[in-house]
Amino acid sequence: MFKKWFDEEAAAGKTPNPNAMSLASIDADGTPSCRIVLCRGIHVEKGYVILYTNYQGRKGRALLANPRAAMAMHFDHSDRQVRIEGFAVQSPAAESDAYFQSRRWESRLAAWMSNQSQPIATREELLARAEPIIAKLKLDPAELLARGNDVFIPRPAHWGGFRLYAKSVELWLGGPGRLHDRAVWRREMPMASSWEAADAGGPNGWISTRLQP
Ligand SMILES: Cc1cc2nc3c(=O)[nH]c(=O)nc-3n(C[C@H](O)[C@H](O)[C@H](O)COP(=O)(O)O)c2cc1C
Repeated sequence: MFKKWFDEEAAAGKTPNPNAMSLASIDADGTPSCRIVLCRGIHVEKGYVILYTNYQGRKGRALLANPRAAMAMHFDHSDRQVRIEGFAVQSPAAESDAYFQSRRWESRLAAWMSNQSQPIATREELLARAEPIIAKLKLDPAELLARGNDVFIPRPAHWGGFRLYAKSVELWLGGPGRLHDRAVWRREMPMASSWEAADAGGPNGWISTRLQP
């Protein structure tokens, strides 16, 4: 049902980023934080969503230290909300590689240029990183400008996907007089530290419970 809602929101074409979701993580010291990321895939059978980020940024480090995570999506036009709670593990490298190559060349270069979440004095300093990185990767600037999307730029090891495996999925549907419909689907699933272990641990039976609004 989540996938159906997600596809309907995208098909409606009413918001620029129908796949935006808030992703909550917990820093190593227990501090919670959340930010918007884009949902780049939903695996219905295994019960996970995919996002891509920098593994060394704040959320990357947090998820690697403590995989417990949650996300919420708001489909404003249809008065719907989806919440997932579970745990995050790094995507298979080949999956991250394939997704990375599908990105525009500027985005692929940017992944090399940004030490996500670290301070930097000026924007100029950030932009000045392009040249040495282009040289380091032995890329031809003229070729990049002419046909950059076809140029192979390797994925940096610090960038890739996370799969957020759901232990619970809650669907919320706005109702008249604020008597909304809420239901949560939960499954028993052991926390895993790799996608192989996570895939082996699921899917299990989902148990649904209606909740008061
Ligand atoms: C619409 C939107 C989409 C975003 N998508 C992503 C994304 O897919 N991955 C990502 O790392 N950051 C994305 N960001 C930036 C994050 O919100 C955040 O600023 C960044 O990841 C650093 O977060 P962190 O310091 O907690 O790691 C997006 C921001 C917005 C507003």
